[in-house]
Amino acid sequence: MDTGLTWSEQLEADDDVVLNASTQPSFETIFAARLGQGTALTGVTVAGAGAAVVGASLFSGKTFSRRNALKGAAASLALATTAGALGTALTARSAQAAGAEASTLTFPPLPHSYDETSHVADGYEIQTLIRWGDPVVAGAPDFDPMNQTADAQAKQFGYNNDYVGFMPLPVGSDTSDHGLLCVNHEYTNPDLMFPGGPGAEDLTAEQIDIEMAAHGHAVVEIKREGNTWSVVKDSPYNRRITTLATEFAMAGPAAGHDRLKTKADPTGTKVIGTVNNCAGGKTPWGTILFAEENFHGYFLGDITKTAEAENYERYGVGGGRYAWGNVHDRFNVEKEPNEPNRFGWMIEYDPYDPNSVPKKRSTLGRFKHEGATTTVNKDGHVVVYAGDDQRFEYVYRFVTAGTYNPDDRAANMDLLDEGVLSVAKFNENGTLDWMPLVFGDGPLTAENGFNSQADILIDTRKAADLVGATPMDRPEDVEPNPVNGIIYAMMTNNTKRKDDQVNVVNTRAKNRHGHVVEIIPPGTAPDGDGANADHTAAQYTWDIFLLAGDPAKPEDGARYGGDVGENGWLSCPDNVAFDSKGRIWISTDGGPKSGIADGVWAADVAGPGRAITRRFYACPQGAELCGPEFTPDDSTYFAAVQHPADEKDSTFDNPSTRWPDFDDALPPRPSIQVIVKTGGGAIG
Ligand code: FEO
Ligand code: CA
Ligand code: CA
Repeated sequence: MDTGLTWSEQLEADDDVVLNASTQPSFETIFAARLGQGTALTGVTVAGAGAAVVGASLFSGKTFSRRNALKGAAASLALATTAGALGTALTARSAQAAGAEASTLTFPPLPHSYDETSHVADGYEIQTLIRWGDPVVAGAPDFDPMNQTADAQAKQFGYNNDYVGFMPLPVGSDTSDHGLLCVNHEYTNPDLMFPGGPGAEDLTAEQIDIEMAAHGHAVVEIKREGNTWSVVKDSPYNRRITTLATEFAMAGPAAGHDRLKTKADPTGTKVIGTVNNCAGGKTPWGTILFAEENFHGYFLGDITKTAEAENYERYGVGGGRYAWGNVHDRFNVEKEPNEPNRFGWMIEYDPYDPNSVPKKRSTLGRFKHEGATTTVNKDGHVVVYAGDDQRFEYVYRFVTAGTYNPDDRAANMDLLDEGVLSVAKFNENGTLDWMPLVFGDGPLTAENGFNSQADILIDTRKAADLVGATPMDRPEDVEPNPVNGIIYAMMTNNTKRKDDQVNVVNTRAKNRHGHVVEIIPPGTAPDGDGANADHTAAQYTWDIFLLAGDPAKPEDGARYGGDVGENGWLSCPDNVAFDSKGRIWISTDGGPKSGIADGVWAADVAGPGRAITRRFYACPQGAELCGPEFTPDDSTYFAAVQHPADEKDSTFDNPSTRWPDFDDALPPRPSIQVIVKTGGGAIG
């Protein structure tokens, strides 16, 4: 199909579709309520006022100051004046804020770029560790781009690496020079993968199977000698998980439900394959969680001919972007109407056991999972945070019923099968309520079409709509900082948000650049140690960490913790990691729309360097950056470069860059690069 868009732009366009018809109070209503007026204010520039209000809290360095700022605001009843007053406060704070010199980061800022290759800050080295098509499992052939087969691809590194998890060897250790690299392969791009750049509908059956084998996940054993990393060839740990052949078990309340049964699986418990594996996370017991994100795009057929039309409409299923359904009946809803209910889950598997059967954990809900990250609460309950990556969708939390046993790995293996899933409602007074999604509670009853907890999990979005969750600007990674215990949630962008849809935590209409939200459990502070965090509390507070964009452009409404300089601004935060000092590392997907390469930016989360971002690594053109990850000692940073050369008119035969090989016989290849400090030592 020729849409005139690159493949990643087409996927972005998918995200652009607004499927959530539910609404929350507008900013006007909320602001009026805060002012105690009870009526919406009129004749004001709501978006501008919103930015100013949040800006005030942004620079206060204190969680609760937002309310104080608003109390101050209440004294002056004209909202326009209020915005002006707060704006003045902001400017003053910015003027006194130190710039780069305030940060604990010591690497020199990397200038913005947009060119054919990747770059890192001075004093660091880049090594390419593994590329699309490189052998993974024993017996895999070398990459032969002119003669690809599904059989070869199923043994080689897949396409479009996304999530990266470093799992030390041996299991349970904090080894930093030997481990398993666990990597998602999110999606395929036929224009750049196959000679002639066939469109999706022109692929041969073999090429469709190659696409299915290029999706999924990979495990590779890796080792560092000196300062150089390499893949351990033919390691028994090395593994490929694909859409084509890997069997998954459904687990939790939705397993075996009638709505998950198909001709091939009358039990509703065994699923072949996984799709659109975006980000992920790790559990404290050494398993990997990986996400099924844009699963809707893989199914052909008319959803109105199924009993699941309302459900599929809410998730955008139907009219798929991939032609797999022409060859494999299960990807056509008219032939296999329940198949899309078997995708959209979070998966858990044990990378240390190459024969382990990955499990789709239905307790974590069914939506367009970006990823899922975990923490152990002080009372032993395991808490998972996750985002649903689409415009106006939600942020979720799951708390296990049982507790983590640090002395018995096996005892934790199914801990995620029981617990309570909740969705975030951000309140105007600075609090956040976790609204439980439990069958029988409030509106979650048969009256609204829910007959069991399984129904709630299959229709998670509908349940979340009914309990009044706050529609966000595309929640991507949502991850607890292991040092201060605060959760950092990336809102990547939302250009569809209109002025009257601005809310307290999504303050900019037509939000091009995205923002970062702090979700704050009781007992934490940015400069705290997180030991007293209560990740099971029903109520948290929240704050805004930064509003992305270019501070030199007033129309961006960007806000950072201080002067980020010419190169420190970023656009479209996507994935996130923390180093062992608790500093935040944000990778982006969307810089090219503002003329800058995607990459990773780092910042302190507390102290004078708070939210003063600094650029560390830059992608080649056409690419986004995924999977920030460190070894436990911070000596190695893993960069997942996804869709290099995905630009207009760039094809397999005539790509805009041949990164990373720069060999005329090789196409551009999504790859994992490792970054080390010249001479070794901790990064940052
Ligand atoms: Fe796959 Fe939400 O990016
Ligand atoms: Ca993204
Ligand atoms: Ca991404």
